[in-house]
Amino acid sequence: MYILGIDTSCDETAVSVVKDGKEILSNVIASQIIHSKYGGVIPEAAARAHIQTILPITDIALKTANITLKELDLIGVTNGPGLIGSLLCGLSFAKALAFSLNIPFRCVNHLIGHIYSLVLEFKNLPLPMIVLLISGGHTELYLLKENLEITLIGSTLDDACGEAFDKVAKMLGYPYPGGPYIEKLAKKGERNIDFPIPLLKNYNFSFSGLKTAVLYYLKANPNYNKHNVAASFQETVFDYLIEAINKASKEFLIKNIGIVGGVAVNERLKERLKVLAEDKNYQIFIPKKELCLDNGAMIACAAYYQYQKEGASNFDAEAFSN
Ligand code: KG4
Ligand code: ZN
Repeated sequence: MYILGIDTSCDETAVSVVKDGKEILSNVIASQIIHSKYGGVIPEAAARAHIQTILPITDIALKTANITLKELDLIGVTNGPGLIGSLLCGLSFAKALAFSLNIPFRCVNHLIGHIYSLVLEFKNLPLPMIVLLISGGHTELYLLKENLEITLIGSTLDDACGEAFDKVAKMLGYPYPGGPYIEKLAKKGERNIDFPIPLLKNYNFSFSGLKTAVLYYLKANPNYNKHNVAASFQETVFDYLIEAINKASKEFLIKNIGIVGGVAVNERLKERLKVLAEDKNYQIFIPKKELCLDNGAMIACAAYYQYQKEGASNFDAEAFSN
């Protein structure tokens, strides 16, 4: 079964061809650079860019996979959450393509798509597993059970984890997305500033207090060392994430841990998790970079499994932003 996976939830036009929900034949991503100068994604500009790129990117995805449109069996598409204009581009395109080819299409929740990046990358994923999703728009903790049943156990009450990285980077004068800049800066810094670690209540995260603490620190210390600010902020975030993992592992008696979403590409986080795994006897699973960042392959994979379980989506399926 050849599945075309489409994700246009934010500022990346991502199209992929996946065979039988497990073999990636192509995974093409067009990032929109227009937003970097504004320090965040401009929704209207993102939607316009998707309209321009979705056809050529789909062409490239099919050519790279060495298949034709007519060979497609299923289309998977993100219908939310995300920017509504961006989502509508992908969803309308997927519906039109499915209609014209007379094949089914399946709507996929973007967050569920991120979880499926684990299913796609690790062939014999040990379940049950605690899954931490850390991206630019979301920070959520899930239980992934034996039959790929997903239960949400916590989410953020305010900013997302990646969003906090983006905002702190912006305060330090770096463009969007700021996560990679913080990581790079932190490499040359040391953790010597005590930023408050937010209180973890019922697995519900909060990043806005930490973000504000960084802002106040920068205002109070105009000659700040940006490397040390980045390192101190980053380590505080990772302490917080590790606290959540430990708490969930203890409560649910699960030692398999999956980490997905854009922040999961951070090498320092991987180092911290390696030490943690040795200390606590965890098995930690992090998909490769191109599957952690937004991509169409995870959507194709999720669509494949959800289509088998629940069938196709209807043509009146709508996009939703939250
Ligand atoms: O999953 P993703 O590609 O898109 C969303 O669904 O949001 O995640 C993007 C987020 C951005 O906030 C970006 O700053 C963050 O992931 N990110 C990082 C790193 N690379 C990307 N955060 C920390 N360290 C990184 N190396
Ligand atoms: Zn995402």
